[in-house]
Amino acid sequence: MLNFEFYNPTRIIFGQDTVKEIARYLPKDARVLILYGGQSATKNGTIDEIKHVLSPFYYNEFSGIEANPHFETLLNAVELVKKDKINFLLAVGGGSVIDGTKFVAQAALYRDEPWQILTREGPKVKDALPIGVVLTIPATGSEMNCRGVVTRAKTQEKLSFRTELVYPKFSVLDPTKTYTLPKRQLENGLVDSFVHTLEQYLTYPVDAKVTDAFAEGVLRTLIEIAPDVINKTHDYNSRANFMWAATVALNGVLATGVPEDWATHRIGHELTALYGIDHARTLALILPVLWRLKITEKQAKLCQYAERVWDIHSGSELEKAEIAISKTIEFFESLGMKMQLSDYGVTKDIELLLQRLEKHGQTALGEHQDITLAVSRKILEKI
Ligand code: NZQ
Ligand code: ZN
Repeated sequence: MLNFEFYNPTRIIFGQDTVKEIARYLPKDARVLILYGGQSATKNGTIDEIKHVLSPFYYNEFSGIEANPHFETLLNAVELVKKDKINFLLAVGGGSVIDGTKFVAQAALYRDEPWQILTREGPKVKDALPIGVVLTIPATGSEMNCRGVVTRAKTQEKLSFRTELVYPKFSVLDPTKTYTLPKRQLENGLVDSFVHTLEQYLTYPVDAKVTDAFAEGVLRTLIEIAPDVINKTHDYNSRANFMWAATVALNGVLATGVPEDWATHRIGHELTALYGIDHARTLALILPVLWRLKITEKQAKLCQYAERVWDIHSGSELEKAEIAISKTIEFFESLGMKMQLSDYGVTKDIELLLQRLEKHGQTALGEHQDITLAVSRKILEKI
């Protein structure tokens, strides 16, 4: 097992009718900005419910944060924060709104060019406004982590940041808020959380028994509940288990004491930035291809995954590894994922994608830092 430090200060307020609890955790002098996306949170009544809870406080609102939040849009929120002397940000939505809010939290107090928050200058950020979250889509884990991803529309670049300054102070996880999610977003959330778990699990064995067992539990749970999540709109328990699984998948627990391989995400971000494909759908394209290219390096863990997650107990280690890859593809396909970029109507430009990876420093990815641009090229050729 590898050495690790674990820190996560986010309070989780989980369950039905828990939005009202946020008033207990806001500072007395809070001047709140509610940030949200398009129409979903208004249509399902969540915004009205929140406004009612916030009535003893000063609040304002900023809507229109798009999926894969735009730097340009977020700068408008930063202006409003400054103008209105906002001192607390409340994100209502999914990964896009939460990540956008985390960016605003930093940019509102940053005196230099805000794009630096997303570049190697990022560590110069020393302060951020406090954030709270009301989660409406289980997928990214952003509600309980300190990461974010923001897109600059002008240059079609999607870049990330990571700083302990943006851990939410609290996150409300009310599974009933997911009842209005369309099928496509449910599929995306299941696949994104499944892949988050795998990118921390599917490397090489280091005898981290507790972390492996947690990851296997999350994977088995997602496989088990997926049909009910998709087919039963108002099934509280499947939505509750989905919501908690997606949060645990990327709140840091599954990274304790193990190597990680985020290559699928790094390459996927370039596909979303250039072609606008949903985040989760890029992951489903890349992960199986990457595994097949790295089957020797990952064989032991693929075999463990085959046995403990897919209950495959016959065949050689290599055969089990191959079956596990096929089972994963079948699972993704059952969730509406395509296995070729052309199925999304995209004609890929491999040279441009490789240039972007190089520009963004993604030239030595994976648990052994051996996913070089040459390996990324092979992956891109096969999708
Ligand atoms: O804009 P509205 O109208 O609210 O619609 C949203 C949006 O179009 C809709 N939606 C959300 N809750 C709903 C709902 N529709 C009906 N009922 C509800 N209850 O869903 C659409 C997608 O929302 P979005 O927030 O984009 O989805 P997701 O949570 O999958 O977030 C994706 C973003 O998070 C980033 C991704 O790259 C992408 O930008 N990620 C963030 C991570 C992190 N911070 O740790 C890690 C992830 O790997 C990922 O990179
Ligand atoms: Zn993801």
